[in-house]
Amino acid sequence: MKIGIIGAGAMGSGIAQVAAQNGCQVNVFDTRKEALEIADKKLRKTLEKLTAKGKFTREQSDGILKNIQYVDSLENMSDRDLIIEAIIENLDIKKSVFQKLESLVSEECILATNTSSLSVTSIAAACKKPERVLGIHFFNPAPIMKLVEIIPAVQTDKAIAEKAKNIIDSWGKTTVLAKDTPAFIVNRVARPFYSEAIKMLEEGVADPATIDWAMTEIGGFRMGPFTLMDFIGHDVNYPVTESVFKAFYYDPRYRPSFTQKRLVEAGYLGRKSGRGFYGYKEGSEKPLPNKNPELGQKITERIIIMLINEAADALFLNVASRDDIDSAMTKGVNYPKGLLKWADNCVSILDDLFDEFHDPRYRCSPLLRKMSKQGNTFYS
Ligand SMILES: NC(=O)c1ccc[n+]([C@@H]2O[C@H](COP(=O)([O-])OP(=O)(O)OC[C@H]3O[C@@H](n4cnc5c(N)ncnc54)[C@H](O)[C@@H]3O)[C@@H](O)[C@H]2O)c1
Repeated sequence: MKIGIIGAGAMGSGIAQVAAQNGCQVNVFDTRKEALEIADKKLRKTLEKLTAKGKFTREQSDGILKNIQYVDSLENMSDRDLIIEAIIENLDIKKSVFQKLESLVSEECILATNTSSLSVTSIAAACKKPERVLGIHFFNPAPIMKLVEIIPAVQTDKAIAEKAKNIIDSWGKTTVLAKDTPAFIVNRVARPFYSEAIKMLEEGVADPATIDWAMTEIGGFRMGPFTLMDFIGHDVNYPVTESVFKAFYYDPRYRPSFTQKRLVEAGYLGRKSGRGFYGYKEGSEKPLPNKNPELGQKITERIIIMLINEAADALFLNVASRDDIDSAMTKGVNYPKGLLKWADNCVSILDDLFDEFHDPRYRCSPLLRKMSKQGNTFYS
């Protein structure tokens, strides 16, 4: 199969590797020649390491490299079966790239975007044949993360979405189907992991070290929210929160925080700048958590309940199926359990939070309330 990748940055180069590992002939294009050179160098280094570790034989590794061509013109995309765009997150630029692509490729070529936050429907609308356009959303790093969200636009032909899903499944990925709604499944449902943690910090419930300790030791998450935000970078995490908030017509549930905004303004971007919620420069000491079990329980309960509420609402609004939501959160962001599997006794806790704050962000999903009245769980 002939694959085209537009954009050779973090995502494009990773997706190209996945496709090449699965025997596809991949053409990668980027407007910056330097990006192509870096992608090539990075892949050679990665494959060298994986070969030394015995993950690939020398022959396999050479085969992967041979499967990828770095090209300097969009014209080299004309014979592709599937093209995945992974360029800058800008709607107008993406639309113009799709229009150019359409003038080059065959009628049968499927056009996909790896956008994290833009409307796939809007990108498709720029095309003459919008029924062949869909979202194929990989997670970073693409060769490692199992999950891929498949997002048909309003205009997408069902058979084309099915075909695209089968291709990605054949690359060994776990695909989930998501409605074209802001932030799809993972980036929508995961919002409270950050926002509720910051809200508790602002309220003085606990400091970052204590909240991180609670979420890892008691909650079983791989990384605490503050460590994770510092790792992602506040210059990346904050704008996503802001754009999700706008995309949901300013629903208070997705409200960003001043605390994080100020970190961005100060240039305290996290690990990459040597300072975020924690210090990373030489000699910085990691603050010690308060390991009070009751406090830890209160913290994890509040964040997990908010995550469950978000997952339940995504199901209620038919963003995705129960199994796809649970699979998305365990395979896309390594949550210890599917959130809907976790859902138990959430209504009274959410109602208590609502009573305490009178803030609509704590409104309980109608689906959770209905199930609780009926004495049901998502899996009973
Ligand atoms: N980084 C992530 O964690 C992540 C995860 C999932 C999805 N995404 C999405 O994937 C896309 C790419 O993100 P990234 O992190 O790889 O970005 P990146 O900045 O690492 O790479 C983008 C690349 O696109 C190139 N580019 C820009 N305009 C172009 C054009 N008109 N034609 C061809 N190439 C062009 C740039 O030169 C750059 O090399 C975005 O839509 C982003 O939202 C990112």
